[in-house]
Amino acid sequence: MQPHAARRADFVKNLGRGAAVIPAARTRLRNNDTEYEFRQDSDFYYLTGFSEPDAVLVLASHHDERSILFVQPRDRAQEIWTGKRHGIEGALAHFGVDAAYEIGELDSRLPDYLVGADTLYYALGQEDVLDRRVMAALNAARQRVRRGGNAPRTIEEPGKFLHEQRLFKTPAEIELMRKAGEITRLGHVAAMRATRPGVTEYQLEAIIEHTYRMNGAQDTAYPSIVASGDNATILHYNTNREELRDGDLVLVDSGCEYNNYASDVTRTWPASGRFSPEQRAIYDIVLDAQKAGIDQVRAGNSYWAYHEAAVARIVEGLIELRLLHGSRDENIETQKYRDYYMHNTGHWIGLDVHDVGRYRQEDGTTYRTLSPGMVMTVEPGIYVHRDLDCDERFKGIGVRIEDDILCTPAEPDNLSANIPKEVEELESVVGADALAAAG
Ligand code: GLY
Ligand code: MN
Ligand code: MN
Repeated sequence: MQPHAARRADFVKNLGRGAAVIPAARTRLRNNDTEYEFRQDSDFYYLTGFSEPDAVLVLASHHDERSILFVQPRDRAQEIWTGKRHGIEGALAHFGVDAAYEIGELDSRLPDYLVGADTLYYALGQEDVLDRRVMAALNAARQRVRRGGNAPRTIEEPGKFLHEQRLFKTPAEIELMRKAGEITRLGHVAAMRATRPGVTEYQLEAIIEHTYRMNGAQDTAYPSIVASGDNATILHYNTNREELRDGDLVLVDSGCEYNNYASDVTRTWPASGRFSPEQRAIYDIVLDAQKAGIDQVRAGNSYWAYHEAAVARIVEGLIELRLLHGSRDENIETQKYRDYYMHNTGHWIGLDVHDVGRYRQEDGTTYRTLSPGMVMTVEPGIYVHRDLDCDERFKGIGVRIEDDILCTPAEPDNLSANIPKEVEELESVVGADALAAAG
């Protein structure tokens, strides 16, 4: 309970006389009457730790009840089907809120929390039905104060403060992310060991995700990408239906989710356990670029420094391989390298794999400066599509290497450390189980 209550207190400090309405995620149908597995909304989870759907958190620092949770009531008949609910008593007992009510009372009670607030912090545009209910409550509050008093005149995005807060991870959050990184390491290593020509992408996916679950992760943080051969040049390929062939590389982009915190890791390795000279040449450039990028994750640096460092290495490498021509600066200037490297080098990561928080200064013009507590991925790649007009020998090669890096007051701290990425390590790990099985 404590971290969530402390986060609510920190968040509310920014709101002045504002009231915030933060909804839980809803269950969604996958097909006919079958639901997608439920995953709590990250903002809501961050502020409550409450994992049930159909709930709303209201924060009203000007009111006697400052933090209020609307939840599904206990209901024996429903709970027999879908599992135990905390209900009102549980919400009060375990989540540190001042008041809890049935979600059905939201419409009648919400106006009361809005009266006296000058701003409503609510993320409009995500859920039509709730938008209408919140707007009705706002109008009801305005009606009530016609003859004096305040009701919110403005609606603001809670993320303005909440997402900045989420961007700076606490030591406890960092430990959860390190644990997610450690479980992800086990998954990737298991897949490396099981790799051999003839194994399928989905079998590697199954081994990785089995390993996550066996080690306590509740889920993956995003659909795993297991892309062999040319599929590795498709950035978000996740069909995962093909068989690995001798001579292929396989690119695996997969991370587990541990207690709602994401890990996001990519490794690329040869199906046979040995890189070809061309694969190795591309791999070495990407690895060098990734290390150069990681080295820029330092307090005081511009957020963009890691991308620029990675791009510089990639461009130099591609010129050496004659996949690019002309000078380094020219290629960077014209962005010609985007034929081979078309995405940015990373993103914030936390409760969401692509986590919240601004990338630029508040005025939107320049990138912000890195500070301790921020966690970001560093994930350069090179993708040589078949349709490019270039040396045939490199066509169909796709390599990406990705780790999750914490900015500290000192050295960059790799939360997904020790997942093999040096060529020698990969060549000794890949296929180890397949070899053992062969005897
Ligand atoms: N796995 C998605 C990404 O790397 O951003
Ligand atoms: Mn990834
Ligand atoms: Mn990523």
